[in-house]
Amino acid sequence: MTLANPTIQIDSQGGPELMHLVDRPVGEPGAGEIRIRHHACGLNYIDVYHRSGVYPLPMPHALGMEAAGVVEAVGEGVTHLKAGDRAAYASNPPGAYCLARVMPAKNVVKLPDAISFETGAAMMLKGLTAQYLLRKTLPAEGLQKGDFVLWHAAAGGVGLIACQWARALGLQLIGTAGSDEKCALAKENGAAFVINYRTEDFAARVKEITGGKGVKVVYDSVGKDTWDKSLDCLRPFGLMASFGNASGVVPPFAPGSLGAKGSLYVTRATLFTHIATREATQAMADDLFSFVASGQVKIHVEQRFPLAEAAQAHRELEARKTTGCTILLP
Ligand SMILES: NC(=O)c1ccc[n+]([C@@H]2O[C@H](COP(=O)([O-])OP(=O)(O)OC[C@H]3O[C@@H](n4cnc5c(N)ncnc54)[C@H](OP(=O)(O)O)[C@@H]3O)[C@@H](O)[C@H]2O)c1
Repeated sequence: MTLANPTIQIDSQGGPELMHLVDRPVGEPGAGEIRIRHHACGLNYIDVYHRSGVYPLPMPHALGMEAAGVVEAVGEGVTHLKAGDRAAYASNPPGAYCLARVMPAKNVVKLPDAISFETGAAMMLKGLTAQYLLRKTLPAEGLQKGDFVLWHAAAGGVGLIACQWARALGLQLIGTAGSDEKCALAKENGAAFVINYRTEDFAARVKEITGGKGVKVVYDSVGKDTWDKSLDCLRPFGLMASFGNASGVVPPFAPGSLGAKGSLYVTRATLFTHIATREATQAMADDLFSFVASGQVKIHVEQRFPLAEAAQAHRELEARKTTGCTILLP
């Protein structure tokens, strides 16, 4: 049976087997909303947290936070988009794993003609995340050319974008990854140094690479497994930028340990604070689009799945089998 609007939904939080297709009616956009028809949807680790229950959601709920397509209709008060526009977004509420949806307009931006729907769907959430981390999540004195930063999971979706962007900014990004092949990929994409953190002690290697000084920032989305050692990679006054929990949520810690390790700073950052307004979203997207248009950042769509196989895409992401970006095709 062909569904008018195939949508991946969960009725309770748990494993990938709970993800199933439903036919969801799409209405007309209200004030501040648009209706969009997707050409491609992005897969992100946050979708795993929404599915598994790490981030609670009211049930039932559709999944997905990122997509690209064509605007079909706009509601009252929406002036930056019109029917027929190519557009892309990273946005709440979850519900992007579908053919068409009505959603808030504030995080939807026009997609430049030079950027394909697949690239647009792959890059919005991950690219805007790399943007706010490398541009705005900085130590007190900022980052200068030549500075060392440590980036975990450097061959992943956000990671490969960050490697290239850091190189374009003149930073020396030390990337960690879970296999030698992934390390090679991160290096090809701009990591100055790479560490296979499944086989090497990454804190010892960071000390060696930086001549014992440590890095100015650790960008850590792995969470539980990397937290303690990451603090040991920082130089005095360094910044621990925690932004994810792929290995599990970071347990509570004693602030006193930050003093003992060199008056460190810690932030737990999230994209959604940065894209709280339409103006901020557009400014960040313009910065991302300019790096992509100039070729300094290439978006690697390494895996494609039909929308109906979204559960398999989740399994592969969680099993650390993917590199770069993954998209779902409705
Ligand atoms: N706070 C924010 O604003 C924000 C926004 C976007 C993304 N994020 C976070 O950034 C991270 C990357 O997101 P992404 O969508 O681009 O995913 P991804 O990096 O493509 O996939 C996650 C990667 O984490 C690594 N990893 C380490 N330990 C793991 C474990 N126990 N289980 C699963 N993976 C593990 C794996 O790489 P290796 O095999 O190389 O270790 C895996 O490929 C996620 O943690 C995500 O939640 C945060």
